[in-house]
Amino acid sequence: MPPADTPLVQRIAPIVRARFEGEGSGHDWHHIERVRRLARQLATIEGADDEIVSLGALLHDIADWKFYGGDETVGPREAEALLRDAGADDDTVLAVTDIVRTVSFKGAGVATPMRRLEGQIVQDADRLDALGAIGIARCFAYGGHAGHPLYDPAVPPVLHNSAQAYQSARSASLNHFHEKLYLLGARMNTATARRLAEARQGFLREFEARFLAEWAGEDLAQCLLRDTETP
Ligand code: ADP
Ligand code: NI
Repeated sequence: MPPADTPLVQRIAPIVRARFEGEGSGHDWHHIERVRRLARQLATIEGADDEIVSLGALLHDIADWKFYGGDETVGPREAEALLRDAGADDDTVLAVTDIVRTVSFKGAGVATPMRRLEGQIVQDADRLDALGAIGIARCFAYGGHAGHPLYDPAVPPVLHNSAQAYQSARSASLNHFHEKLYLLGARMNTATARRLAEARQGFLREFEARFLAEWAGEDLAQCLLRDTETP
């Protein structure tokens, strides 16, 4: 069981909640709550600082670079302003803004190393929420929000080598499985997250296989074949 919320966390949480309630691109308050819960559980297992992990999780999406024309400085600046307003000390501000600055995935060929264990844990928890059944729902919610097609058989996935190329890509949501989601397991920082990621990625593979089978009409063919086999 993680410890009780500190006064600083109690001051920041409602501000973040008010800002993200009802957000429609898959970055809503419930995403932040899930990331915080999972990150605190990982923190207990790994022996990380619960307050820094909580604040990092609460503030990790505060001003995502994707929604600010690729500007990576808005998030850390907003996080700092909120933390200072709530009375955080310099060390806390430094640790949490470092997490906000480095948490995001920026393309298959772009490394996003995290210095501190607390940041590694928030990054793992955020990435785990992009996998499994919830991850699939968020992927298509984001694609819909951005106006991307579900799938286009004529457009293969691309492994982006720069944050710019990744950010400006308008590929189909199913391509995102290959462009990001299947790459996450190997990039997890903690062993527990890696195990969880592998299980969640397995579910994505099943979903993709079924999606493509339905697209190709294979399930109807199998259904009809079964009819002819019954005596
Ligand atoms: P992270 O914080 O790990 O960088 P993002 O903010 O990039 O996560 O993504 C948030 C959610 O939106 C995730 O579930 C992610 O997979 C999904 N997402 C991001 N970009 C795309 C895209 N181009 N197509 C479909 N889903 C996307
Ligand atoms: Ni997030």
